[in-house]
Amino acid sequence: MCSPWATGWLTPREGSMKIAVAGKGGSGKTTVAGTLARLLGRRGHTVVAIDADTNPNLAVTLGLSRDVAASVQPVPREVMREQVDAAGQTVRTLAVPHETVIARYGVPAADNTTLLLMGRVAHGGAG
Ligand SMILES: Nc1ncnc2c1ncn2[C@@H]1O[C@H](COP(=O)(O)OP(=O)(O)OP(=O)(O)O)[C@@H](O)[C@H]1O
Ligand SMILES: [Mg+2]
Repeated sequence: MCSPWATGWLTPREGSMKIAVAGKGGSGKTTVAGTLARLLGRRGHTVVAIDADTNPNLAVTLGLSRDVAASVQPVPREVMREQVDAAGQTVRTLAVPHETVIARYGVPAADNTTLLLMGRVAHGGAG
């Protein structure tokens, strides 16, 4: 899967941070990501927490009920467009402003955080 950080989802701005949490299965990624998001939110930062796991469960760590978590609509692929750069590399960029994506698909969660889901598998394909 393509990392949202590499796609220009959140363009660098003065005073903004992008933190990616990755690692081995069951090593505490979701716990660390959710706790960090909530701590930063409590300190007054505006936090957008993106769950890019195909089996997402960051929502619960961000204080949402399991029912609400199950009903969160993932960001559709159509918000991204692919382009080939001068070096022949395929790059993905947002087709709409990130504020629009957050307003449309973001779910308010605990401690001044907003959750975005972008990894859920919509349907199974052929093997
Ligand atoms: N510091 C910790 N000490 C003890 N248990 C922890 C710690 N951090 C996380 N856990 C527990 O370990 C388990 C796995 O944590 P978590 O779900 O955050 O991992 P993950 O890397 O996101 O897993 P996955 O790869 O399945 O998404 C959970 O039951 C969690 O409560
Ligand atoms: Mg996890």
